[in-house]
Amino acid sequence: MAAAVCAFILTLSALCGPRVGTGAVSTPTNVSLKSSNMDLVLSWDSPEGASSGLLYTAEYNTSVTSYKVGCVNISQLECDFTNLSISMYGKYTGRVRAQLGAESSNWVESNQITVDKDTIIGSPTVTLFSNGATIEVTIVDPVFKTSSLRDVYSLPTYNITYWKYDQIKKARSLSNIHQNRMVLNDLEHWTKYCVQVQINTKRNPNPSKPSKRVCASTTNESGAPWVAAVVTFVIMAVAVALVVTAVVYRKSISHFLCPKDSLPQHFKEYLLAPPISPVYLAMQNSHPPEEIYHPVSIISDNGTVEEGSPLEATGTSCSKQPDSTIGKR
Ligand SMILES: *[C@@H]1O[C@H](CO)[C@@H](O)[C@H](O)[C@H]1NC(C)=O
Ligand SMILES: *[C@@H]1O[C@H](CO)[C@@H](O)[C@H](O)[C@H]1NC(C)=O
Repeated sequence: MAAAVCAFILTLSALCGPRVGTGAVSTPTNVSLKSSNMDLVLSWDSPEGASSGLLYTAEYNTSVTSYKVGCVNISQLECDFTNLSISMYGKYTGRVRAQLGAESSNWVESNQITVDKDTIIGSPTVTLFSNGATIEVTIVDPVFKTSSLRDVYSLPTYNITYWKYDQIKKARSLSNIHQNRMVLNDLEHWTKYCVQVQINTKRNPNPSKPSKRVCASTTNESGAPWVAAVVTFVIMAVAVALVVTAVVYRKSISHFLCPKDSLPQHFKEYLLAPPISPVYLAMQNSHPPEEIYHPVSIISDNGTVEEGSPLEATGTSCSKQPDSTIGKR
């Protein structure tokens, strides 16, 4: 009996444990409103010791409007408000409550954020193109969930940091760069450099996440003019050599081009004869396909017999002999 009462009390306390005072559901914890790349997401943790089957309802407001519903009766621990006509300059707060059956917890409010000021700007994408002793840096902005970086922030600038591959402590930075393509031209040749870029905006106090570090090697001093000089030199040298050769051997060359001795007659004939191609020879050697035909006798009404090859007959009297057969196999 005592054991049964004990078990009953234990069960009751297990059921009621997570609940607050008057049987209400206990509240979600770590409620936090965040934004990255201009989205707006409320997240939370389930109440401590929560029973399964809890559902959540999340809402959001701005500093000038009352709460609007974001997600209703969801089991996930976050609600994305991004597509609910969020203003990028709005100041937002979120709130969430847990529900179990007909009972619900109190609301828990989140921090307040201003989307464009507080959003975490993602990392730009950087590609390098090395040309001689310079490296061209091309930057692509992170993709925003709604709108674009340049629509939200009027004058974003890039902070390009670059360093010799193994000397990151001596890194140099070019900040306040407006264009998304930049040539680094104070580099040493035959050296590997690495580059990392961050975006700065005036509205958002935090720079973007840094880009991935990308590296490229410079080559010789200034690629194109050097190559052009070598090519020009080689062409000139070859031309001079040809002219000198022509002058020195002009006699032999003129002999070769206009020989005094004429070719033997049969050799000329051979050269002038039409070319004999293998196809032509094959055609000459093959026999035309054999045509098989049978003589045809035509017996007219009066009994006279005309004989002849059907081919001869076709010309004049086809209509008379529709059945003449020309077998070709
Ligand atoms: C959410 O759940 C509650 C409690 O189960 C219920 O009363 C309410 O109708 C549900 N709302 C929607 C929109 O499903
Ligand atoms: C540019 O980036 C470098 C490296 O992250 C940093 O040290 C520097 O302060 C930045 N400059 C500006 C103007 O943001």
